[in-house]
This record gives sequence, structure tokens and C-alpha cells, in this order.
Amino acid sequence: MRAVIFGASGLLGRSVMDAFGDMTVTGTAFSRSASPLVAVDATSADAIARLLGRVRPDVVVNCVGERRPAVWAAAPDRARAGNVDAARLIAEGAHGCGARLVHISSDYVFDGTAPPYRPDRLPNPLNAYGRWKLLAEHAVHAACPDAAILRLPVLYGPVRFAAETNLTEIARQVGAGAPVELDDVCVRYPTHVDEAAGVCRRLAGALLQGQRLGSVAHWSAEQGLTKYRMALLIARRFHLPAGHVRAGAADAVSGDRPVDCHLDCQDLPAALGPVRRRLFDIEFPPAVDPWLTTSGPAAGRRKDAS
Ligand SMILES: NC(=O)c1ccc[n+]([C@@H]2O[C@H](COP(=O)([O-])OP(=O)(O)OC[C@H]3O[C@@H](n4cnc5c(N)ncnc54)[C@H](OP(=O)(O)O)[C@@H]3O)[C@@H](O)[C@H]2O)c1
Repeated sequence: MRAVIFGASGLLGRSVMDAFGDMTVTGTAFSRSASPLVAVDATSADAIARLLGRVRPDVVVNCVGERRPAVWAAAPDRARAGNVDAARLIAEGAHGCGARLVHISSDYVFDGTAPPYRPDRLPNPLNAYGRWKLLAEHAVHAACPDAAILRLPVLYGPVRFAAETNLTEIARQVGAGAPVELDDVCVRYPTHVDEAAGVCRRLAGALLQGQRLGSVAHWSAEQGLTKYRMALLIARRFHLPAGHVRAGAADAVSGDRPVDCHLDCQDLPAALGPVRRRLFDIEFPPAVDPWLTTSGPAAGRRKDAS
């Protein structure tokens, strides 16, 4: 079996590459295209067609996205293209070459006012990113009707720069000791990226076996935490002072961040069988440990990270 993973240089794409290790996998990148990843601009239909024509994959996973708020604000056209146009073009490419498609979407398609959200609940995104993810879902569905769309909440796991996840950015703030206010209203469900990638692999396997799953699936951890609560957990676990961290409501009062998008995920285990859960309390320490100092590991920060 052959798989193409678009967006394989990113947080989720790297784990998805590992999860598809039993297949012959080709991963793509854009600005970070070090070998063995292949450089592909996912906003170019020709570039996608060339790659898919050469590899002739059985399955395609789309982990391309632009989720950095600084880019949404500074370069909205680029962010829209990376989220919407790329999704449509990859879906058209997958459909054209007869591959099964798993497309990654987000819990931000919901407004967060009435959790938990089943996959068939009506989306109502509050911000541009959520609207783009929803437009992408519609485009994928139109171009590739049998694609599986997997909505995920905020992810954490091994990172290459502190701002790659909220959790590691919070760890940096806890470790830095400078006064900081963190939202204590909006509830997030940080999900380990390897767990999400494993679900993605199982979903692809089910699609390849012709299992009918419904077009949208949800996966999420069950433990809800605000950013402030995450900071307190980090401080307690590493015996660090937390007096400089104050509880605030900035995300909630902004009006464009959903308060609680808890995804109802009952359908997936029912369709795929039991999924091993990674518990946040056990999994978060190794993810944040290297980032508790202001400098972080030698790799440092990605220049354009928000
Ligand atoms: N991270 C989360 O908390 C989270 C939560 C829910 C849903 N999601 C969704 O999951 C997916 C993956 O997210 P992620 O966290 O892994 O994002 P990420 O770390 O920012 O990675 C994004 C990937 O997309 C690639 N990319 C961006 N623009 C591209 C373009 N024009 N052409 C080709 N590739 C392009 C990037 O390539 P280069 O880096 O090489 O440029 C990178 O491989 C996205 O759809 C995101 O919306 C993420």
C-alpha cells in the first residue's frame, strides 16, 4: 500500500508519517522540505497532480493547514489558500487518482456554546480560521464525496519550537517567571498528536477496506483544561512557582474564540473498535520539559511562529 501525507513537516504530519510506517509513505513539505520530504506547493493543482501521478497512492492524508493567528492577520490570503484552496486541490487530486482521502479539520468549526458536539451538529465558526476550515470541509466533500473528514481539538506532543503548541508556549511562560495572564474560561481538550495520528491511520484502514463511516468523524481527549489550569499543572508537576501566572478571560472576551468545543467522539470507537487513550496527566511532562527554560532546546524558535 502507498500513502501520500501532505503537510508532513508539521506537528501532526510528522506523527502521521510514523503512524503510516507500515505503508510506503511519501511525505510533503512546503517551506521545511528537508529530505526525505518532497517539496510541494499544495495551492498548485499541477504540483499535486505531478506527485500523485508519480506515486499513485492508495490513500492520501491532508495535514496541510495554516493555524498561526499571526499569519491569519498579516497574510489572510495566504492563510485562506493554505486552508481552503489546498484542501480542495488535494481532494480533487485524490479523487482523480482513485485514492482514499483523510482530511484533517478542526473543532473551531463550532461556536463552543453548546458542547458536546456530535459530527452532525450544525457548525457556526466564530473566527476566520474556523470559517476557512468549514469552507475546506465543504470543498473536500464536493470534490471527493467518499473522503473522511477528521475534526480534532488542540494537539500537543513533541515539538520543534516552543510556539508549535499552546502547551509548550504555556510551559515557556511558566518557566520564564515573568508576569503573565492566561485565560481561565475557554476550555480546551489537549490531545496527544500520536493518538490523533493513530486514529487517522485507523480511519484510513477502514476506508481502504470499504467501511462506510459517514463523512465527518470526531476525535478528542476527554480532559478539559483552560490555559491557566494547564499552567498550574505544569508548575505543580515541575515544582515551579506559579505566582506570576494570573487567571484571566482574554480569549473568552475576544468573542472570536469558542468557549468549549468538546467533541463527542462516541462514533469512532463504535466503527473502528477501541482506541487507546493517552492521559494528559501522564503524557504532558515529557512534551513540556525541554521548554521550561526561556531559551528552550538548541533548535530555538521558528522565526515566523506566533
Ligand atoms: N495543531 C493543532 O492544535 C490542530 C488542532 C486541530 C486541527 N488541526 C489541523 O491539523 C492540520 C495539521 O495541523 P498542524 O498542527 O500539523 O499544522 P502545522 O504544524 O502548522 O503544519 C502545517 C503543514 O502544512 C504545510 N503547508 C502550509 N502551507 C502549505 C502550502 N501552501 N503548500 C504545502 N504545504 C503547506 C506546512 O509545510 P511547511 O511547514 O514545510 O511550510 C506543514 O507541513 C491542519 O489542518 C490544522 O488546521 C491542528
